[in-house]
Amino acid sequence: LIYGKRIRLRAIEREDLSLFVNWLNDPDVRAGLLHFLPYSLVDEEQWFSEMQKNPVEEHPLVIEIRQGEEWIPVGDCGFFKIDWRCRAGEVGILIGEKRFWNQGYGTEVMRLLLRHGFNTLNLNRINLDVYENNPGAIRSYEKAGFIHEGCRRKAMYKEGKYIDVLQMSVLKDEWKDALQEA
Ligand SMILES: CC(C)(COP(=O)(O)OP(=O)(O)OC[C@H]1O[C@@H](n2cnc3c(N)ncnc32)[C@H](O)[C@@H]1OP(=O)(O)O)[C@@H](O)C(=O)NCCC(=O)NCCS
Repeated sequence: LIYGKRIRLRAIEREDLSLFVNWLNDPDVRAGLLHFLPYSLVDEEQWFSEMQKNPVEEHPLVIEIRQGEEWIPVGDCGFFKIDWRCRAGEVGILIGEKRFWNQGYGTEVMRLLLRHGFNTLNLNRINLDVYENNPGAIRSYEKAGFIHEGCRRKAMYKEGKYIDVLQMSVLKDEWKDALQEA
């Protein structure tokens, strides 16, 4: 398990899948994601079986928040598209329990993922894509140390509109410098 101050990241179990389906079917959650169609438990089970064939470093992790003595699953996150030669990888995050939004958890998850990516996986670059109309996500990535590096203009289509896809990244040296300054 990967522990932060208020959260922990753990491997996904089959029992988690129905929670994932609920989150992915919530239009507010889905607005920031690639998903655009209603999603079933069967779809999710198929995804889970396929996902097991991916490299272990790319298996998503469940985000759990500590509430008293209990750990509550609230979302998932992880690395994908890792390029081992260039030591670069992409990250993604979803907090599906909306009552936990805007309390700094997303930022904490991203900080943990950066530590994991740089110190455990030995990556040199970590990047992500985010839609221009997702200000909460953009702000949380900036707080975690991500730099704006580009924009794919009108590359996504959602809710009847073309939207820009922003590209953000952190390099290992920048991250280490920021840690020292902190
Ligand atoms: C994106 C996501 C992970 C962010 O998690 P979170 O726990 O809410 O993030 P944080 O609380 O750490 O940071 C959010 C910041 O955005 C700010 N924010 C929220 N809504 C905002 C808005 N409409 N305009 C400007 N800032 C906004 C918050 O105030 C907070 O900043 P602050 O701490 O300076 O006040 C979460 O909203 C989520 O999972 N959304 C659904 C899936 C998704 O969109 N994933 C991202 C795909 S790229």
